[in-house]
Amino acid sequence: MSASTPEEARARITALREQIDEHNHRYYVLDEPILADGEYDALLHELQALEAAHPELVTPGSPTQRVGAAPAEGFGKVVHGQPMLSLENAFDDGELREFDRRVRERLGAASVTYIGEPKLDGLSLSIRYEHRLLVQAGTRGDGRVGEDITNNVRTVRSVPLRLRGESVPEHLEVRGEVVIRRRDFEALNTARLERGERPFANPRNAAAGSVRQLDPKVAAQRPLTLFAFGVGECSISLGETHWQVLEQLGAWGFLVNREVRRLDGVEACLNYYRELRERRDSLDYEIDGVVFKVDDLRLREVLGYTARSPRWAIASKLPAREATTRVRRILPSVGRTGTITPVAELEPVEVGGVRVGRATLHNLDEVRRKDVREGDTVMVRRAGDVIPEIVSVIPEARPQRAEPWEMPGHCPACGAEVIRPDGEVDYRCIGSLQCPAQLSESIRHFASRRALDIEGLGDKVAEQLVDTGLVRELADVFTLDKEQLLGLEGFAEVAATNLLKAIEARRRVPLHRLLYAIGIPGVGADTARLLAAQLGDLDFIRRAHPVLFALVPGIGRTMGEEIRAFFADARNVGGLDRLLEFIEIEGEEGVAPEYAAGVAAAAIIRELGLPKVGPKRAAELAAKIQRLDELPELPVQRLPVAGTEGERLCDALRQHKADLRAMDELLLAKNLHWTSDRSRARIRGAEQATTPLAGKTFVLTGSLERLTRDEAKTRIEALGGKVTGSVSSKTDYVVAGAAAGSKRDRAEQLGVTILDESAFHELLGEE
Ligand code: IVH
Repeated sequence: MSASTPEEARARITALREQIDEHNHRYYVLDEPILADGEYDALLHELQALEAAHPELVTPGSPTQRVGAAPAEGFGKVVHGQPMLSLENAFDDGELREFDRRVRERLGAASVTYIGEPKLDGLSLSIRYEHRLLVQAGTRGDGRVGEDITNNVRTVRSVPLRLRGESVPEHLEVRGEVVIRRRDFEALNTARLERGERPFANPRNAAAGSVRQLDPKVAAQRPLTLFAFGVGECSISLGETHWQVLEQLGAWGFLVNREVRRLDGVEACLNYYRELRERRDSLDYEIDGVVFKVDDLRLREVLGYTARSPRWAIASKLPAREATTRVRRILPSVGRTGTITPVAELEPVEVGGVRVGRATLHNLDEVRRKDVREGDTVMVRRAGDVIPEIVSVIPEARPQRAEPWEMPGHCPACGAEVIRPDGEVDYRCIGSLQCPAQLSESIRHFASRRALDIEGLGDKVAEQLVDTGLVRELADVFTLDKEQLLGLEGFAEVAATNLLKAIEARRRVPLHRLLYAIGIPGVGADTARLLAAQLGDLDFIRRAHPVLFALVPGIGRTMGEEIRAFFADARNVGGLDRLLEFIEIEGEEGVAPEYAAGVAAAAIIRELGLPKVGPKRAAELAAKIQRLDELPELPVQRLPVAGTEGERLCDALRQHKADLRAMDELLLAKNLHWTSDRSRARIRGAEQATTPLAGKTFVLTGSLERLTRDEAKTRIEALGGKVTGSVSSKTDYVVAGAAAGSKRDRAEQLGVTILDESAFHELLGEE
């Protein structure tokens, strides 16, 4: 719409500002956008153009005024209308109870209602509004005087430039914490790395650095979010409770944390604390504690203040998850499949309540990217249950002669060559089971709980068995005798007898345990169960073409390729055959899978990835044949597509001729009947598959690296779970990949468990 007269321009400008403010609020505060980015941009451009044509109509509250201020030389001062206090800390349950006792005693009350809020780990701000408009924003500083960061705060989209709604006071100071959400932080750091800039150590540093930028245009590029948690000076009374104050802040257009909870009594506070501690990793922002505030504002006045902090609030601290320490050495550690992982040996330090002496550096690229060197002082982080990792190096503390770390050319355990296979990030030792490190890791895995579950055969014993040469391959575990065991460190009569008994008991094992135990790359315990339950026998699995695996719900062609590659290696086959001299597979013949081959054929055809062949065409193709190996011979006229496309399809089919013939042989060998009866389309035996996810509901959001959405869905369903499109309180898990959006937030609000990709794979039983 174009506005020609000044009146029309004025009216249009007002309308545009209202619309833009509304969409901003929906997007950044409510997280319920209803407008596409492009449409929003169009509105903003129109407003910018109109304001450029009518500069006299530009106001400081206009959404065009978020960016634009010139870089400053330094920051001015802001005197807070009311001082910005800090909070007293409680480090354990006892200290929180003690706080509650003091509060009750002073008030003479039997029980007190508190408001619990996540203690955000960011930077606290005070923002002053006069007659609805944002006029000034300051950092906390010494509590009384802070730095003037108005122009930077104006760029923060969750901060209203103009207050919305009713009963707006003439003067108002809003208090809140500015943070960078985790997902925004990741994107920010990725972009910095791409530009060759140093990544930020954590979201807090990034937020603090951004707020204190001298150039507001730089600050505007940083994805800052403000959560409002209170009010300083205010020209009107804001109700009777803190809860009402928060509601009022929401109505004026601020983002108020959705986790805020009203809690009756200290026990409810303790429960809330525990709940947030559990959910800490699934929140989209970092928290370092939980704040409890007396809800009733009159009672707050009765309680008053000490010199530093209010007597009506306390912060229950969560264990710090970061600490600094020194890297003593960086050691290459050889895993079960030969992958060499650089591991930093640290001066022990306590992080998140646990003593940490080592941290993985994942791979050489990571060592380079973070530029970690022996002797460096580093920031170590432990989030949830994950392995501690080095976040960043403190460059100022680097010793003079620290050299960049190099990957050794030969395996530290066996001396074999170390290679980096094409296209992979990991280096690996080519020693295979001749390498003592790979062998002892393989034995440990072989004996682990979900594999053969041999009690008494852990890392230490596995290492000794390898070092003494008693075990040179997995099968040797079954040749051990008591005398040999008694020769090992820590083995007396009882331990030796027990271990031998445990080994003896595993001479008969279910197929799935064996499949997992032999350590096929990518095959976790649950995948092994699926393979066993649905494909039935080891011989079949050993010979199966990768395409066949695609028929098994939850497996797929890629894993099929891995399985095939494993069985194509003579060393693996030899090792397995030797094992089978000692092990009998339990109940194998009972499974006898049966395919409705017509449907199997359709699935196989789909999996071949022929050009333009989706499920429908695959089914049409399958319907035209009796046996798979007939497919490539099919005349063009009988194909479900005509002309050149049909010819192309014919060519593609011919390319897969060998595959299809092999598949057909396998299906026939398994006595799989040809039928087009869809009701029997399922692979029999699926009933016997484990369903560890039975009754669980999943929502997928964002993109996963290792799986497509469809694959993820198939796997969940194969394990008995269900995938739905939207998050509700009934959802059990939200799997959030990269760039996950509002579904993730919704899950967070509802307290639904959020799994990142690796947690998801873990749940699926993969490593
Ligand atoms: S209330 C007088 N609520 O913690 C009470 N503070 O040590 C003032 N913080 O400087 C603070 N989340 O930066 C409050 N929900 C929350 C908070 C919070 C984080 C920070 C704030 C303050 C520090 C107090």
